[in-house]
Amino acid sequence: MAIPQSFIEELKSRVEIEDLIGGYVKLRRQGSNLTGLCPFHSEKSPSFTVFVGSQSYYCFGCHAGGDAINFVRAVEHLDYVDAVKFLADRVGMTVPQEEGARENAAQRADILELNKTAARWFHEQLRKTPQAVRYLSGRGLSEKTILHFGLGYAPEGWDNLLRHLEQKGYTKPDVKRAGLAAVNQGGRYYDYFRGRIMFPIIDVRGNVVGFGGRVLDDSKPKYLNSPDTPVFKKSRSLFSLCNAKGTREGQLILAEGYLDVISLYQAGFAQAVATLGTALTSEQARLMNRYAKEVVIAYDMDEAGRRATQRASELLTAAGLKVRVLRLDGAKDPDEYLRTHGPERLRAQLSRTEGYVEYRLSQAAVGLDLQDAAGKVSYLKEAAAILSQLDSPVERDVYAGRVAAQLGVEKDNLLTEANRLRKSDRKKAQQQDIVQQQRLLRSGVGRVDPDRARHLRASRAEEGILCLLYDHPDYYDELSKELSPDDFVTPFHRRVLVSMANAIEMGERPDLSGFREFSIEEIGVIQGILLRRERFSGTREELRELMETLQQERRRGAALQHGMDDEELRRYLQSMGQRK
Ligand code: UTP
Ligand code: MN
Repeated sequence: MAIPQSFIEELKSRVEIEDLIGGYVKLRRQGSNLTGLCPFHSEKSPSFTVFVGSQSYYCFGCHAGGDAINFVRAVEHLDYVDAVKFLADRVGMTVPQEEGARENAAQRADILELNKTAARWFHEQLRKTPQAVRYLSGRGLSEKTILHFGLGYAPEGWDNLLRHLEQKGYTKPDVKRAGLAAVNQGGRYYDYFRGRIMFPIIDVRGNVVGFGGRVLDDSKPKYLNSPDTPVFKKSRSLFSLCNAKGTREGQLILAEGYLDVISLYQAGFAQAVATLGTALTSEQARLMNRYAKEVVIAYDMDEAGRRATQRASELLTAAGLKVRVLRLDGAKDPDEYLRTHGPERLRAQLSRTEGYVEYRLSQAAVGLDLQDAAGKVSYLKEAAAILSQLDSPVERDVYAGRVAAQLGVEKDNLLTEANRLRKSDRKKAQQQDIVQQQRLLRSGVGRVDPDRARHLRASRAEEGILCLLYDHPDYYDELSKELSPDDFVTPFHRRVLVSMANAIEMGERPDLSGFREFSIEEIGVIQGILLRRERFSGTREELRELMETLQQERRRGAALQHGMDDEELRRYLQSMGQRK
């Protein structure tokens, strides 16, 4: 049983799409609509539009588009049903339970139960393996910390965990589904984690969703993480968020590694989290934004860490978080810093964290002699570039003042230079956006509807017919007498027409939410088509003209297939016209 359309309509009437999208994208009013930077492709000038009247959105850059449900599908990477649930939660409605959904929920619960059993077993194995315990105490972890994080050990051997879980009634495929077993080419199942210290990854509800595992020596790969499973998406999880949520004035510390986080926790910094072996994603940034206002980045101090800091700070800022950067002098990461300098030094360092702008300004000065004229000039150039990237004129002014005072130069000159750079960057960015838009539009629509470009005139007529039918379902009777979906030239439009016809035949109005069988990308293309509705007056006369154009095009196509040359074709078409 599918979710009834009436429920979908009620749900959509309760969700304000501008509020929903406003939670992800900074929107600015423009006439009756809102615009912002598209969350689905990177751009510098806004081509993403939210249509308040029709409660829909469309990106003129990458043709992402649709209604609230499609937005959630795309931005949260959910399937249709889960996106509906997500929205229902938001407005306090309960989705009528579906057979499939119940099965999914049951499967997820099974995996979580299996994970918990496995975590318990890993912990028992740790107790039985002195060398693993020694490793952890060697890394400075106390008994209490080991217990708190539920650390464990996956013994050497190929199927110790598998055998244990089978005894508990699980099947091999169950274990694989949870990401704890793999299958070799011969079809044999084996333990995914072997000979590793195990770090359970626990979500904010306290579920064990996955694991990280570290070798005890220098062998490679140093860390292995659970693959994505129905309960675990690396790009959406953060290690130790369950400990960090709700600590200290809404601050989180973002570190790179499991052991950084655990050492920080042990030293009294429960607000530390880490990504799971991948670069920070925008989803993780948004997740952090739910629990904190400010994030202190505490990445490794090497070149890779510096680049990652830059990237993370951009994502975090975009998610609406205040960003600060922790400097760990004389240590490569927080774990090492704590071991050499202790918690008090770290606490002091934490209170001295620089804002991201200060951090970048001080980075720019590294290796330059600011007493020397040439050094000064290089630094000022770099500083102007950094200032030019600040959106707020107040911020630009304040930091320009600081830099100027520090170097004993005129603030106004620096500010003018920053503003000049800003203007030229913006121009460049806009040009790049346009080029990219054209490419994305071609490739995106081309992927979804590859026949459009080959049959442009017919395609346009088909799009017009779809637009008219969307607004005037009562035209369907007339249309269906003269035209069948098979008359449509492009298969994609044909599918859209069939979907709309089904809705109309069931007495429903066509609606974006009705295109359930279409992919997120396809719905974007449909939304792009439907936006052209404004170009039509919507009369029956217009519909007849469009149908006529389409028939002409079909005849022309057929004639071409029969190998007529232009002149023959012209005469042929003329004769067709006369016959009519
Ligand atoms: P690091 O190599 O910086 O590890 O990787 P670390 O935390 O300092 O490790 P220790 O102190 O030697 O134990 C940082 C993080 O990157 C991921 C892990 O999540 C790790 O915690 N990683 C690293 C992997 O996923 N795979 C690897 O092979 C290495
Ligand atoms: Mn480390």
